[in-house]
Amino acid sequence: MSSEELRSANCEVRTGESGQRRADCGERTAVLQGTAIEKEFRLGPEQLQVLNGVDITVRSGEMVAILGPSGSGKSTLLHILAGLDRPTRGDVAIAGKPLSRLNGEALAAYRNRNVGLIFQFHHLLPEFTVLENVMMPCLIAGDTPSAALQKAEQALAEIDFTSRLRHRPAELSGGEKQKAATARALVTNPQVVLADEPTGNLDSHSAQALMDLFQDLNARKRVTMVIVSHNERFAQRAHRRFYLDDGLLKETT
Ligand SMILES: Nc1ncnc2c1ncn2[C@@H]1O[C@H](COP(=O)(O)OP(=O)(O)OP(=O)(O)O)[C@@H](O)[C@H]1O
Ligand SMILES: [Mg+2]
Repeated sequence: MSSEELRSANCEVRTGESGQRRADCGERTAVLQGTAIEKEFRLGPEQLQVLNGVDITVRSGEMVAILGPSGSGKSTLLHILAGLDRPTRGDVAIAGKPLSRLNGEALAAYRNRNVGLIFQFHHLLPEFTVLENVMMPCLIAGDTPSAALQKAEQALAEIDFTSRLRHRPAELSGGEKQKAATARALVTNPQVVLADEPTGNLDSHSAQALMDLFQDLNARKRVTMVIVSHNERFAQRAHRRFYLDDGLLKETT
């Protein structure tokens, strides 16, 4: 990410203690807003309060990292922010639309168009090729097969994934699977991309390459990203970092 690109993205370059460049974005539209989010799990008589009033606002073009100990509720929070799970109390709005007002079917359709998801395990469909997997969100959204194909090819080209498009997931390396999952997350041009430990299964070289790709997508395409990661170095590249512990989310420097 060059200084020039950062300036054109209305961001200011800062150098953190680690010496790694970061970007601080000015005021922009809130794309993702979580307000007073609480989550309780009930297992028989047991009640587990995982989130205890989490507030988060992610603005257009931001790259935000969420850190925290194992079991602190990072995945739970990400799933709620993505509309994959409902909070016990509180609400999430994506592009100004409160998800609580959408029923199951409407929520799934809204998520399909507005949220890109990347998980630690790629979750690609094993019987389909890379190209077909990337076409899938467009087909679900109602695109014709030829329109879906065109968008999938474009999303893959955008991240320089131009060979092995007819491979099935089992015929790809770990890094290639995550690149395919990234193209699938981006193909509908969503409002926000949410990633849950996307480098968790990768060797350090592939993890580095995926981090570079995310940072490039954020800088060049202004893709708004929320990334849960255990990787401090990865988190240092984000515009803002949050730490989840004891059910509360705090912004850290
Ligand atoms: N469906 C569920 N029912 C009951 N408890 C759950 C459920 N999902 C998660 N939990 C509990 O909620 C807590 C938070 O889980 P979560 O997966 O969000 O943690 P995490 O921060 O993502 O951890 P890790 O870093 O290991 O991935 C854990 O104690 C977990 O056991
Ligand atoms: Mg998790």
